[in-house]
Amino acid sequence: TFIETHSDLYAVMVAAARYYQQQLHQPVGREALAYLQRRGLSDTVIAEFEIGYAPAEWDGLLKALKVDSATLLQAGLLTEHESGKQYDRFRHRVMFPIHDQRGQVIAFGGRVLDDSKPKYLNSPETPLFSKGKELYHWDKVRKARALKRVVVVEGYMDVVALTQHHVTNGVATLGTATTPDHLQRLFRSVSDIVFCFDGDEAGRKAAWRTVETVLPLLQDGRQISFAFLPEEDDPDSFVRRQGTDAFNTYLDEALPLSQFLLNTLTQQVKLDSIEGQARLTELIRPYINQLPDGTYRELLLKNLKKLVPVDLKKSTTLKDIGKKTE
Ligand code: UTP
Ligand code: MN
Ligand code: MN
Ligand code: MN
Ligand code: MN
Repeated sequence: TFIETHSDLYAVMVAAARYYQQQLHQPVGREALAYLQRRGLSDTVIAEFEIGYAPAEWDGLLKALKVDSATLLQAGLLTEHESGKQYDRFRHRVMFPIHDQRGQVIAFGGRVLDDSKPKYLNSPETPLFSKGKELYHWDKVRKARALKRVVVVEGYMDVVALTQHHVTNGVATLGTATTPDHLQRLFRSVSDIVFCFDGDEAGRKAAWRTVETVLPLLQDGRQISFAFLPEEDDPDSFVRRQGTDAFNTYLDEALPLSQFLLNTLTQQVKLDSIEGQARLTELIRPYINQLPDGTYRELLLKNLKKLVPVDLKKSTTLKDIGKKTE
């Protein structure tokens, strides 16, 4: 029965966060704490992010919280087996509380301490939590004084490690691609967003998918760029290995979206042939069409014209080009 009010659920989430946090500093949490320390996290940053530990028990939370199981179920903290048996969703995992932008705990991400799967288990969608909207650490970042820029990364550990290394404007999507909701939320507070995904193939693909998501929102004055780390790194491993200055250099050298777009599409054609030039105009057309009217669109078209000397602004011309290459 879904009779609980949101305020009950918020209270339960805070209580759960406190429970996990306490467990991390009990003997039962020793392995988890050692794991976090092995990954280079300081006590300060562990406390700052309220990181905790869910013990390897089936009813640890259920017993500790003294909250009825219907509420815990609704909060996503219990799961129900087909048999009807209910047990703690998070067991033997390092726990990262996720806050909404007002700073209230609304969900958790839980990481295993070894190589077992799934590596991260996140709260399900609940009345408090829709993951395509929320950004890890945004509640803190948005309150920073003179906030100019946000760095979007893939993971919890990336955000935490960056913060420890004084890069305090990192936020992470929660196991999803960047959504229009995420971007709109960020653009309400900042105009400069740098995406810094993992250096692997998946990270590069995520960057390219992000281009498509962000294009319709690229009003003049908004600045989007993409930092590409070495293949073997994510922001966490990179900043730990190379330090803050080296990471900031990567951010400074981030590719503006327009350049990323042109580079990527140009690599797919042979620009020294007419066929290649026509192909490029075809490839880029759907992207240009998504851009809102404005200076940015004009400038992109102007730059494109240096590569392909045709007028891309007229869609009739474009159609003609398309037909001729077919
Ligand atoms: P990664 O696989 O890059 O993990 O996933 P990570 O953040 O580098 O984690 P560590 O360093 O091994 O601890 C990036 C993000 O994707 C989501 C999580 O939010 C994770 O931080 N993810 C990943 C999941 O939700 N579930 C998974 O099983 C794996
Ligand atoms: Mn909190
Ligand atoms: Mn990855
Ligand atoms: Mn990582
Ligand atoms: Mn990663």
